[in-house]
Amino acid sequence: MKPAILVTRAIFPEVLTKLEQYFEVESNQDDIIFSPTELAARLKGKVGTLATASARINTELLQQVPGLKMIASMAVGYDNIDVPACTAHGVMASNTPEVLNETTADFGWALLMATARRVTESEHWLRAGHWTKWRYDSFLGADVHGATLGIIGMGRIGQAIARRSMGFDMKVVYHNRSRLSAEQEAYANNALYVSKEELLQQADHVVLVLPYSVASHHTIAAAELAMMKPGATLVNLARGGIVDDQALIAALREHRIAAAGLDVFENEPKFHPDFLGLSNVVLTPHIASASEATRRAMANRAADNLIAGLTEGKPRDWLNPPA
Ligand code: GLV
Ligand code: GLV
Repeated sequence: MKPAILVTRAIFPEVLTKLEQYFEVESNQDDIIFSPTELAARLKGKVGTLATASARINTELLQQVPGLKMIASMAVGYDNIDVPACTAHGVMASNTPEVLNETTADFGWALLMATARRVTESEHWLRAGHWTKWRYDSFLGADVHGATLGIIGMGRIGQAIARRSMGFDMKVVYHNRSRLSAEQEAYANNALYVSKEELLQQADHVVLVLPYSVASHHTIAAAELAMMKPGATLVNLARGGIVDDQALIAALREHRIAAAGLDVFENEPKFHPDFLGLSNVVLTPHIASASEATRRAMANRAADNLIAGLTEGKPRDWLNPPA
């Protein structure tokens, strides 16, 4: 008999077909969201799982499923997975890096442009029948071309966002745990390494693309928002929790910064309801990697990791290989 696995959420049918060549697959094409208890119950008797970033993989879960050998997550960020706990329980964990960098960078620009130029706000106004009220000063936004772009988190996605700024004739400043090489900086539109404080003071548009961790929790809170230029925009593509949403809501309400574009939220898929009452925020439901081609590539990469992990003991994107 083939070993059994669980696919925790609905997925492209071709990916299930691929997995079925190797495994007895329990799927969830109705896309029911499992509670932690239900997830543990369904993982009993399974050797592996293909999960998404909404599954919380922690010690409490791992203790209940001693037969589990591998978790293949379909996301690049893996703050939902306690990797040391996986290692302690002998469970391989993998993510899906690389395949989504360019698509996510594209979306960073979509959000930046929509935020700076008030695209969704003006569309809502048009749909509500207000066009006859047009004035010379309707929906004045911030210029993107020629402005200073600040990127916090200069990994592959941050660098791909920086590269795209060349066409807008922008100056790029960045902050990161470590400085890029001179060659990487040159390729990223001559990005200049600065402190977080300098970046917040200089940038007209701030984009967040750093991974979530205890250390990056509330990287942008009240003190940081106070350092930003009054006309600045803030875009969060990374994870909820990197921004203190309550502090951001206060800053947006008082127009201490111009606007924000958010693809991620604290406690998503729930989020702070006060965002809905603000016109100077663009809200999207965590879709930065959601192009047709890239979601397919992510799903296939997660499946390939699971197959390689469970058949050869060596997933390509192994987060906890033996030292
Ligand atoms: C499981 O509940 C998941 O979101 O992958
Ligand atoms: C999406 O947010 C991911 O981490 O892949």
